[in-house]
This record gives sequence, C-alpha cells and structure tokens, in this order.
Amino acid sequence: MLNHKYDRDIPSAEITRESDYLSRRRFLKNLSIGAAGAAFLAACRSSGVTQPALDATPGSTPAAAYTGGQRDELGRAITSEQSITTFNNYYEFSTNKDGIGELSRNLVTSPWQVEVGGLVHQPRTFDVDELIRLFPPEERIYRMRCVEGWSMIIPWQGFQLSKLIDAVEPMTSARYIHFVALHDPVQMPGQESDYFPWPYEEGLRLDEARNELTLLSTGLYGRPLSPQNGAPIRLVVPWKYGYKSIKAIVKIEFREEQPATFWNTIAPDEYGFYSNVNPAVDHPRWSQNTERIIGQPVRIATLPFNGYGDQVRSLYEGMDLKENH
Ligand code: MTE
Repeated sequence: MLNHKYDRDIPSAEITRESDYLSRRRFLKNLSIGAAGAAFLAACRSSGVTQPALDATPGSTPAAAYTGGQRDELGRAITSEQSITTFNNYYEFSTNKDGIGELSRNLVTSPWQVEVGGLVHQPRTFDVDELIRLFPPEERIYRMRCVEGWSMIIPWQGFQLSKLIDAVEPMTSARYIHFVALHDPVQMPGQESDYFPWPYEEGLRLDEARNELTLLSTGLYGRPLSPQNGAPIRLVVPWKYGYKSIKAIVKIEFREEQPATFWNTIAPDEYGFYSNVNPAVDHPRWSQNTERIIGQPVRIATLPFNGYGDQVRSLYEGMDLKENH
C-alpha cells in the first residue's frame, strides 16, 4: 500500500456496467441484518441465494458445503477459497501478497487470549475458544474492497462485535474502540523492520463498532481462519477499506479519544481514520472509482460504502466525508 516497491499493479480492464451488478439491488433494499443474522438468512432464502449453515462453529461446516454457487445479496459469486488464502496483505509477515501462507504457517494461534478493557464496567480477558462458545459464529457473505483497487467476496464465520461490547458494558464516556494486533517479532518476521509503527492497530467509533454488520471473524469457508487471514480472530468491517479489518487481535480497548491507526500514522493524508469505501474520494495513487474482483476479468464500478449504504449511511449524517475520509 506504500508508494514504492511494495506496490503491485492491478491490471486494468473495461468497466462492467453497474446495472449488471445492481440487478439484485432490490434484494439489498430489503436486506436488514438483524440479531444473529436471522433476517439476513431469511432475505437470502427469499432471494434464492443458498447459504451454508449459519450456526456452524468454525470447522464444523465442511468446506464441501461451499459448492461455488453461493453469492452475496448483490448476486456476486464468492471468491475462491484458493484466492482468499493465497492473495493476502499481512505486513507482519511480508509486504508481498503471495507466500504469506507459508511464512505464517507456524504462527501459534491457540491458546490465544484477547484482553478487553479500558472504559468498561466488566473488563475481562477472554480465550478465543471461550468467545466462540459465548457467541456462536454465524455466516456472513461480505464484499471486501481493498484501497488498492481489488476486491473479494468472502464467506466469513464470526459473531457480531456488538455482542462482545454488550458483555463488557461500556461506560458512557467510551466513544471509540482501539484494536491491537499481536506484536511478536520472533514469530512475525516483518516486525523486525522498524519502518512500520508496530503493532498494527486500528480503531472504530463505538456506534460503528456496534453496527450489525461489524463482525469479529474466527473462520471462513467453513474452516477456522488460517494464519494468513488473521487467525485466530480478526475484525471485518465490510463498508470500509480492507485495511481497517485488523488481523490477529490481542487487545480491544474502549476509549474516549480517537485512537491512532497503523496506516493513518504512516501516511495521514492517504489513509483517514474513517476509511469508508467512497468512489468520490480518490486515494492519491489509486482511483477509487472502480475495482477488480479477484478472479474476474473486468473492473466494475465501486459502490459508496461498498454497497452497504442502507445499513451505515446514517452513521455519518452531517459529516463531510471528503474531509473525514
Ligand atoms: N491486519 C494486520 N494485523 N496486519 C496487516 O498487514 N492488512 C490489512 C488487513 N488487516 C493487515 C491487517 C489489509 S491492507 C487488508 S487489505 C486486509 O487485512 C487483507 O485481508 P486478507 O489478507 O484476509 O485478504
């Protein structure tokens, strides 16, 4: 994502008519992801979209359940598991996108604890296995749009972050959540570089974190997350650029002040705190107008809020989204 040797060119191709991708827009209009994703499932069923079991715990839905026919609510087919697990951004291991699987193969992801604290009444350190028991994972097929101009459609397993937020009872003074990833240069060779401000950290406003779309993911394609995809637990915020979805979380802290974020610290003009997908605001090096879905030959128009505007637009009422990019 940096402005030098790390960049990889995204081949450009002709733009597919947006209408081709919006033919299922009617579906989105009716989409309302309710508690535990029940409404989401119902909407999928009514639209004829086949979903694997929603209540599967990671590993219990065989990958064979994913026949390739699954689509998101816009009708976009899920990206192959092969692409999702071999084309990665994970700077703790490498600035290259391929080979992260091999480099991260031996990362110890169990046992794994997540410390949840700060401005909450019930601070607590959870084991990831305990989180999965408390909040059984459900299926969410989400688009993921990287600021570099590529995207994927990913069948995640995870639970709504709002459930964990409720469990620790935030104080009224809590306005933001700060997420911190593992810092362990012995296991993560990329952290030997002091070019980057380790550990990787991210942040959300509390109301964004409570939004029904915001997920803590523990699996994808019916298997527990692989190290390269953020095992054992990562954030997924589908209306924001992919870099907000921090992997390998070890700490979640509630704060009054807006937290620092990894990319905003590196290049504040390029990466804002909000980082909502916005085709109207270009990154200095990448137009955000179009994107290429990995595995597909053409570029398509990028949708505001990555197509999730109905669910999240109200969070930003009255805000200048250019200034607050
Ligand atoms: N989380 C950590 N800890 N370290 C990273 O380098 N990269 C981010 C995000 N989360 C990153 C991270 C970026 S830039 C993207 S696009 C997504 O992870 C990529 O997720 P994926 O590799 O599962 O596709």
